Amino acid sequence: MTRLSSPTPSRRAILTAGTLAAALATRTSAAPAAANAVRGEGAVPFLWGAATAGHQVEGNNVASDIWLLEQVKPTLFSEPSGDACDSFERWSEDVEIVRSLNLNAYRFSVEWSRIEPAEGQVSLSALEHYRRMVVACREAGLAPIVTLSHFTSPRWFAAKGGWFHLDAPTTFARHAERVIRHLGEGVSHVVTFNEPNLQLLGEWGRTPDPTVRQTMTDMLAAAAKASGSDRFSLMNTGDAAAMVAPVLEAHRLARQAIKTVRPDLPVGMTLAIPDDQAEDADSRIEDKRAAVYAPFFAEARQDDFLGVQTYSRSLIGAEGPLPVPEGAERTQMGDEFYPQAIGSSIRYAYTQTGRPILVTENGLATEDDRVRARFIPAATAAVLAARSDGVPVIGYLHWSLLDNFEWFAGYGPKFGLVAVDRTTFKRTVKPSARVLADIAGSDLSRSQGLAS
Ligand code: FCB
Repeated sequence: MTRLSSPTPSRRAILTAGTLAAALATRTSAAPAAANAVRGEGAVPFLWGAATAGHQVEGNNVASDIWLLEQVKPTLFSEPSGDACDSFERWSEDVEIVRSLNLNAYRFSVEWSRIEPAEGQVSLSALEHYRRMVVACREAGLAPIVTLSHFTSPRWFAAKGGWFHLDAPTTFARHAERVIRHLGEGVSHVVTFNEPNLQLLGEWGRTPDPTVRQTMTDMLAAAAKASGSDRFSLMNTGDAAAMVAPVLEAHRLARQAIKTVRPDLPVGMTLAIPDDQAEDADSRIEDKRAAVYAPFFAEARQDDFLGVQTYSRSLIGAEGPLPVPEGAERTQMGDEFYPQAIGSSIRYAYTQTGRPILVTENGLATEDDRVRARFIPAATAAVLAARSDGVPVIGYLHWSLLDNFEWFAGYGPKFGLVAVDRTTFKRTVKPSARVLADIAGSDLSRSQGLAS
């Protein structure tokens, strides 16, 4: 969820074609024909889409670990997620908006705590809910890209010790298999874990703020107590380095389990990768790369694709991370406005892994939608330039479809292509969404050999 040093209470501020061809075959006459080589085994269209995550949009995800952390005292969350965007009820409106924007992909996550609210008790109704979403995406001509773990886990899982519990990898793999058995038929790509390197990234080269660290400890202790346990552990909290091995083991077992059900389904993870730039000859950039990405890249080489998530650049000097350059334009999260970052990060990720790259998140927080409308052409141009240079980029998914619950920072930051009224939940498509729609539409038409 986050980095400890940003100036605002930002998400990064506190914790420091399988069936793709089939998906698109269900599209209307506007269906893009084969365009881009995706997995080296045929040509399928570039994925243009938008992304969300269950906890950030569904609302009332009451059996999850993060819901509890929002409620306890003290908490690092600036407000509770509450009804979020009411997307558990309104998901079909969301799918319809994605379709109406000429996009051909929708990334969303399934909430494990709804599927298994108590250990071993599976909710068929929740599985059915997500299966209906997959089917509706297909009917709308959208490739459903499903994330299994987007930071949240069930509360019972955290209270057992989370990813540090010896059974965690097999427990997660069982969950992954259950989900894919139930709804996997229509899924286009599966993301096992979202940004399992985020805490390592946030903490690298920084001294944690002692007050924040103490509040984190107290918050987790309060959640443990409320759960009748002596522990409470979740993704991207606690000892980040120690969490790498069990999470990668969980990823590996989940990938194997998914392949037993759908051997053709592309499986990968996503990583948070800013555009790291060395400021001088003594830069510690290689230390950072070894600590923050290398173990994940090693595993990703066995995957079908790698999801890359980039929000800005990061300057690195001889002592570690450097501040945002003076006078630079900043986003609502305090990051530098630097849309071209995504071009470098995908080139780097491809060089390191040799795997097809899917941009699973890219965007910015701003109250001023004109800034987003400026960001999108520059960011997508950087992605398309990498593609022209031979990087096998298979898609671009903007974060986010909706203005949503931005973790510790609550509802303040506005990442959405679509505004959501906080009391009526009415969705209003912003002009920047049309900018993305036009870029996607013209790329897909070009790839069909039609005049754009
Ligand atoms: C990423 C998260 C996503 C959202 C964006 C802004 O780190 O994956 O849920 O918070 O940042």
